[in-house]
Amino acid sequence: LQIYQKGLNYERPHLTFQSTSWEPQACARMSSESKGYVYGSAGTRETDDKNRAAFKRYSLVPRRLTGHKTFPDLTTSIFGEKLQSPIAIAPVGVLRIFNPDGEVAVAKAAAKQSVPYIFSTASSTSIEDAAHANGADGQRWYQLYWPSRENDNITLSLLSRAKKAGFTTLFVTLDTYLLGWRPSDMDNGYNPFMRADQIGVALGFSDPVFRGQFKERHGVEVEEKMGTAAAEWMKIMFNGFSHSLDDVKFLQEHWDGPIVLKGIQSVADAKACKDLGVQGIVVSNHGGRQQDGGNSSLGVLPYIVDAVGDALTVFFDSGVRCGADIAKALALGADCVLIGRPYVYGLVLGGEGGVDHVLKSLVGELELTLHLAGIPSGSIHK
Ligand code: FNR
Repeated sequence: LQIYQKGLNYERPHLTFQSTSWEPQACARMSSESKGYVYGSAGTRETDDKNRAAFKRYSLVPRRLTGHKTFPDLTTSIFGEKLQSPIAIAPVGVLRIFNPDGEVAVAKAAAKQSVPYIFSTASSTSIEDAAHANGADGQRWYQLYWPSRENDNITLSLLSRAKKAGFTTLFVTLDTYLLGWRPSDMDNGYNPFMRADQIGVALGFSDPVFRGQFKERHGVEVEEKMGTAAAEWMKIMFNGFSHSLDDVKFLQEHWDGPIVLKGIQSVADAKACKDLGVQGIVVSNHGGRQQDGGNSSLGVLPYIVDAVGDALTVFFDSGVRCGADIAKALALGADCVLIGRPYVYGLVLGGEGGVDHVLKSLVGELELTLHLAGIPSGSIHK
């Protein structure tokens, strides 16, 4: 409503409210490498295209004469934490590619808009610096790219640092034990994880266990052999070997808090997660960046909710671009919707202010959308 009233006073916004134009505007401003990395998807983009198309297959049917006198209540509760709205920021790596303030800008905007920030293991800012920027009141969750089991010492270091820095929930990404077939990056000869020199402090280089091991092996600090360090870090995280169901117990033993498994696309896997006793899942295909020729994430959501929605907290992402998309995912059973590429485009277009604008717009549009549909709260499906 605030946004609307401003607009009616002929105050033009700094960034457009038209969410479909964030992507082309940001793409026009980026280098071909950065654009290829964020906009690029796996293979022929089939999964990515399906993600978007799936939203058009569903329509919101409004109810009239509902008698509601107030705007919908968007607050919700996830693992005992109160959220101002049923959205969170999806983990996205190496954000300093897009703006020198990278993760710090996102952490600040997230705190300002009271949106939880899922911070990526592949970040270009340390866990501690991101937490500091997110502040005492910020809600933050940690996303783990899970090192192979011979690197359990690094996993434990990451988990304990995250816990100490105030990250409450652990998101474990299961679909990226190797990077997808991404022609845009390959054509550019670009692997952002290897461009340590470009982004300065990169990835896990602030991790004391990794640093110690590196020094022992090479006799020098990480900074003196950035390329080698980046290659080793890549090997630890994206080594091509999938963990097993049994391995999850290790995380359950060493993480004191809720665990959410990210990248679920089948009912069978969702049921397996339920049997493991984890607290939640993210129905996600990584924005179509990992597996080409897959299903749309929205298409599989209702089946998965039907199978495990009573036992697990179900997060959703992949293809969400506007308030109506969020409403549809909630209506199909998601408890919380993760915002991916749109906030990265906000970061490109306006740094912290751009991310702030994108988050505010999406929540504002969601609120109006639900109100116009005659729905009194963000918990549509309950
Ligand atoms: C991602 N995603 C991701 N996921 C994750 O668990 N850890 C990560 O480090 C990253 N990094 C990353 C980088 C970039 C550039 C993108 C676009 C995405 C996936 C992300 O969390 C989310 O699943 C998707 O972004 C959702 O798809 P849309 O909405 O962006 O299409």
